[in-house]
Amino acid sequence: MPSVALRSLLLAACLCVLAAATPAPKPQPNANPVAPRDPLITPSTVEYHPSRTWKRPRDILSDLDGDVSSILGGLGSDIPSYVASGIPNFFQGFPTGDAVKSSLGLNDADLAALPTQVLNIDPYANFTSQGWNVRFHGNVYKQPNTSNATLEKLANDLFIYGTQLSSLPESQQAQARNLTAEIFVVQQGNVNVSTIHLEPSDSQGSSGQPGGGGAETATGGTQDIQLPYNTTAEGDFDVFVPIASNGLTNGNETQSVQRLNTYVGGATLGNGTAYLVPNEGLTVISDIDDILRITKIYEPEQGLLNSFARPFTPWENMPSIYQNWSTSLPNMHFHYLTTTPEQVTRNYMQFIYATYPGGSFDTRPLNFSNIAATLSIRKFLLTKIFETFPQRKFILVADTSNSDVMKDYPAMATEFPGQVQCIFLRNTTGTDPGDKFPYDTSGFKGLNQKSYMFFLNADDLTNLDIANGQCYNQSIPQNVTFSYQGLPDGLSDTTSINGSANGSSSAGVPMASVQTGLTFFAFVSAVFWQLL
Ligand SMILES: *[C@@H]1O[C@H](CO)[C@@H](O)[C@H](O)[C@H]1NC(C)=O
Ligand SMILES: *[C@@H]1O[C@H](CO)[C@@H](O)[C@H](O)[C@H]1NC(C)=O
Ligand SMILES: *[C@@H]1O[C@H](CO)[C@@H](O)[C@H](O)[C@H]1NC(C)=O
Ligand SMILES: *[C@@H]1O[C@H](CO)[C@@H](O)[C@H](O)[C@H]1NC(C)=O
Ligand SMILES: *[C@@H]1O[C@H](CO)[C@@H](O)[C@H](O)[C@H]1NC(C)=O
Ligand SMILES: *[C@@H]1O[C@H](CO)[C@@H](O)[C@H](O)[C@H]1NC(C)=O
Ligand SMILES: *[C@@H]1O[C@H](CO)[C@@H](O)[C@H](O)[C@H]1NC(C)=O
Ligand SMILES: *[C@@H]1O[C@H](CO)[C@@H](O)[C@H](O)[C@H]1NC(C)=O
Ligand SMILES: *[C@@H]1O[C@H](CO)[C@@H](O)[C@H](O)[C@H]1NC(C)=O
Ligand SMILES: *[C@@H]1O[C@H](CO)[C@@H](O)[C@H](O)[C@H]1NC(C)=O
Ligand SMILES: *[C@@H]1O[C@H](CO)[C@@H](O)[C@H](O)[C@H]1NC(C)=O
Ligand SMILES: *[C@@H]1O[C@H](CO)[C@@H](O)[C@H](O)[C@H]1NC(C)=O
Repeated sequence: MPSVALRSLLLAACLCVLAAATPAPKPQPNANPVAPRDPLITPSTVEYHPSRTWKRPRDILSDLDGDVSSILGGLGSDIPSYVASGIPNFFQGFPTGDAVKSSLGLNDADLAALPTQVLNIDPYANFTSQGWNVRFHGNVYKQPNTSNATLEKLANDLFIYGTQLSSLPESQQAQARNLTAEIFVVQQGNVNVSTIHLEPSDSQGSSGQPGGGGAETATGGTQDIQLPYNTTAEGDFDVFVPIASNGLTNGNETQSVQRLNTYVGGATLGNGTAYLVPNEGLTVISDIDDILRITKIYEPEQGLLNSFARPFTPWENMPSIYQNWSTSLPNMHFHYLTTTPEQVTRNYMQFIYATYPGGSFDTRPLNFSNIAATLSIRKFLLTKIFETFPQRKFILVADTSNSDVMKDYPAMATEFPGQVQCIFLRNTTGTDPGDKFPYDTSGFKGLNQKSYMFFLNADDLTNLDIANGQCYNQSIPQNVTFSYQGLPDGLSDTTSINGSANGSSSAGVPMASVQTGLTFFAFVSAVFWQLL
């Protein structure tokens, strides 16, 4: 986990650049000197060069993502792609398996005595000539009985920054200990998930609000199925399994989503709801952070506290927007797709199902742990659901602070022609001055303006005719330059960006930009540091 030491290094790098560049970005409120904190879960891969900035080893540099790194490279800074990508790095590199065992000092006998738990991530199913085909996915693990004192220490060391857990309200301390306990679990590899019990559900299901993605009570009887493979080394399973029709309505003969309750045998906490999604219709694919909940991954302290301590809080009135969609378009399927790591899935599901329409879920599987894989996960999961429902149309929702979203959402429109009905992106820089993160709108070139909208407030999404592809509210001004936006002053010029992106040297970057480029680097460092 590039956590504590890296955070301090970046702080140092950031302050160093801040000192060098004028005008400097406003220092973040918690940008005070901070003593390096130990222990690290895994060693940081970053070295610090006080005279320059900091640099990552070759293997990580080789992952460098095209454009942003070229801009930064042109300015003489080696920035890893995930820095420039806005993937929240406090959600990177959680310890797994043996690392958890050793950090908690557990032995095999301790572990054997613990009950097996299953994270059964609410699946979707498509209808094929063989019948319904359910994508079961999740994780098998054991959660050690870690003392509150140990959890508090781990939380202080890893997840809470700029304050101590003990100074937070008791409810937030409990939430932080709870999340820490969920992260410090021991995944169970090569385990046979031998029974999953299915039974028809009413429109409520065992999770999620009524309406939306499941207005119809499923017909048909109960059944038990087995997964064809044991869990992976990381305890994951992810496999499509055909189920018996058993009185269910065929997917080519209904417009309604049918829900099945699913219970994993031999485990506590294994309940979920499967969504049997008809061949044709509309599916909302929604990101969660900074669109359905306030996360502020781009602000110091806030991102960490919002993720690890504070209760999850909806962003503006998105719940009523989704509620309206789910009732006015009653056959809509909702799929929540976030790149948050699997270990914290339960907290995300709990929040979503208490606040938004029920729907299937995707988070980041454990085998997507290296940087390149982390950057590819959204595309991988989007492609999977698009390929599973070739006749359905998708409404893609997120915010501008994720560079994978900015690239992948418009790419789906190109790669799966006719399947993207709408793209809605909250312009986080527009309402949140704390978001200094540049975003790339070049993927939208060539897309019909009716099919996408950058918006500022949740209410901008009212009064659209989504069913008929009217996704653009004329009263919301659009300023899409099809290039990097949200850059600091002086770097907004596309020529200089293209120059450095194509050129082999920094010749394309006007000298006048170098100063602001440093400022930009400081911004990026500050953002990255916040994310750790
Ligand atoms: C739906 O699919 C099933 C299985 O492929 C098939 O037997 C049935 O005739 C289809 N129904 C319609 C209305 O096409
Ligand atoms: C967990 O540990 C606490 C104290 O460390 C103990 O009181 C409790 O009984 C334990 N619970 C289980 C289920 O072992
Ligand atoms: C640990 O904290 C929880 C609240 O988060 C509390 O319910 C529990 O009693 C505490 N356990 C011990 C052993 O103090
Ligand atoms: C964490 O919270 C969830 C939901 O409230 C609860 O089901 C779970 O038992 C808690 N875990 C721990 C370790 O307290
Ligand atoms: C699957 O796991 C079970 C233990 O849960 C083990 O007995 C069995 O041999 C494994 N199967 C394979 C194919 O590895
Ligand atoms: C899991 O166990 C069942 C019997 O309970 C067996 O039929 C099945 O082959 C096993 N699967 C694997 C992958 O070992
Ligand atoms: C899971 O579902 C079963 C069957 O309805 C129920 O008995 C059990 O309490 C549920 N477990 C949880 C943790 O909700
Ligand atoms: C992770 O596992 C899935 C199968 O569960 C596989 O399709 C995917 O390619 C793997 N990803 C990586 C990065 O290894
Ligand atoms: C159902 O989903 C599977 C897995 O993504 C896919 O291979 C298959 O083509 C889909 N079937 C239909 C009829 O869309
Ligand atoms: C986002 O909002 C900012 C501030 O209002 C604005 O300058 C920018 O052009 C907007 N971006 C888009 C793509 O509309
Ligand atoms: C609710 O959704 C319907 C259909 O999508 C739309 O016509 C209507 O304007 C929406 N209402 C609000 C207040 O957004
Ligand atoms: C439009 O976006 C460009 C590039 O980000 C920015 O320089 C300009 O100020 C924006 N205009 C408005 C009206 O927001």
